[in-house]
Amino acid sequence: MLISESTHSLIEGLFVCENIGPQSLKGISEPVDVYRVQGETDARSRFEAAASRGLLPLVGREQEIALLLDRWEQAKEGEGQVVLLSGEAGIGKSRIAQMLRDRVAAEDQVQLRYQCSPYHTNSALYPFIDQLGRAAGFARDDPFDIRLDKLESLLAQSSTGPAEAVPLLAALLSIPTGDRFAPLEMSPELQKERTLAALIAQMNGLAAPRPVLVIFEDAHWIDPTSQELLDLMVDQAQAIKALVLITYRPVFTAPWGGHPHVTSLTLNRLGRRQSQTMVGALTANKPLPEEVLDQILAKTDGVPLFVEELTKTVLEAGLLKEEEDRYVLTGPLPPLAIPAHHDEVCLLAALDDSIVSDPLEHLGRAVDPGCARAFTEASTGRLGAGFQVAGHRFRRRRCDAEAVVGHAARKAVLDHRNPDEARHQASRKLRSEALRGDSGLRTVRRDQDRCCHPV
Ligand SMILES: Nc1ncnc2c1ncn2[C@@H]1O[C@H](COP(=O)(O)OP(=O)(O)OP(=O)(O)O)[C@@H](O)[C@H]1O
Ligand SMILES: [Mg+2]
Repeated sequence: MLISESTHSLIEGLFVCENIGPQSLKGISEPVDVYRVQGETDARSRFEAAASRGLLPLVGREQEIALLLDRWEQAKEGEGQVVLLSGEAGIGKSRIAQMLRDRVAAEDQVQLRYQCSPYHTNSALYPFIDQLGRAAGFARDDPFDIRLDKLESLLAQSSTGPAEAVPLLAALLSIPTGDRFAPLEMSPELQKERTLAALIAQMNGLAAPRPVLVIFEDAHWIDPTSQELLDLMVDQAQAIKALVLITYRPVFTAPWGGHPHVTSLTLNRLGRRQSQTMVGALTANKPLPEEVLDQILAKTDGVPLFVEELTKTVLEAGLLKEEEDRYVLTGPLPPLAIPAHHDEVCLLAALDDSIVSDPLEHLGRAVDPGCARAFTEASTGRLGAGFQVAGHRFRRRRCDAEAVVGHAARKAVLDHRNPDEARHQASRKLRSEALRGDSGLRTVRRDQDRCCHPV
């Protein structure tokens, strides 16, 4: 699969790509840099991809970390704890989970990490299957017998009676057991019940000799069976040496409040000074011109992800010249905007003004987990507010899209067809094209070229 520079910048860290240099493409006048996608990296989320490139030092959040470490101490004493960490996209939930992992890393402990995915909200036990495969060290081309060996040795570590657990979890991981284990002859309900019990037993087994830190990320994408299992884990955790940290965005209502061993923690946006510290970390503490800093702080409004991305965009956009002790503007400062992938969602939202909030939310998740805010603004303010947060690249695309939709409507009038229907059809087509990535945007441009021909 070949992708453009802009798509590459959006997926960097999540996929291994090779730059095959500038290529001439049909319909685009200048040669453009093209990348070949070679495969997935090990990163399971935007945060992991970012972490593999290096993180900024943690700013603030001392109270949250102190609370988590306090709960960890209680867990180590055998009074298991659960912390529910919620907050909007990009606010720093994963960063805090990472900090906790780092802080306890030197101790004798074990960590279990589960990551929900927006693409697997209906795959039963997806985060558990993913975790088992990674913990067992499955390689992509491992034959089944090697996978079974790896699974057996993983389960032996938690001393949960592997003879019982292995065939159940092998079935969960779609590994045939051949004649190494007796076939599972039980009803699907019983098999599910025993599989959940085996996974719980694995956690309990691991926690017997040493404390366990369980990190369950992005529960707003949890599938129903995983939620059943997580219910059991939350319940069981109080009797073992475990701290279970569950992160999620506020769209999810956590059903585990009210238990004495469960603490809820909501992450607020950073204060102005804290955002400023993050900007400083990105500029190596070289001051930015005051109006640039003011715009960054105002536009990003204390969301660390946006602070990072907008500052990086500004530094890369050629608006500034680096001098020995500061940055200076090279020309007049244009209005800054939240960078590309947040805008992409606004574009998609704006293309179809008949869209309602649910599909919009779905769209937002599908494109990038970090764009909820831009996307919410787009959904509440429809076209107008969606465009307000859009960057210059996006504005160009909006013009493209508007031209195509407008053209469809005008052509419909000339053809004595319903212009509204034509508009909707055109915007739906653009939206599905745009969802498929850059090829869609090329189509937008191609269609726009066609628009310029007289009808
Ligand atoms: N307090 C902070 N100090 C420095 N960097 C931070 C802080 N909080 C978050 N970041 C950085 O901001 C980016 C977004 O944070 P993070 O991925 O943790 O957000 P999140 O709440 O997990 O978002 P999502 O809901 O999309 O998973 C990351 O690159 C992270 O390192
Ligand atoms: Mg996260």
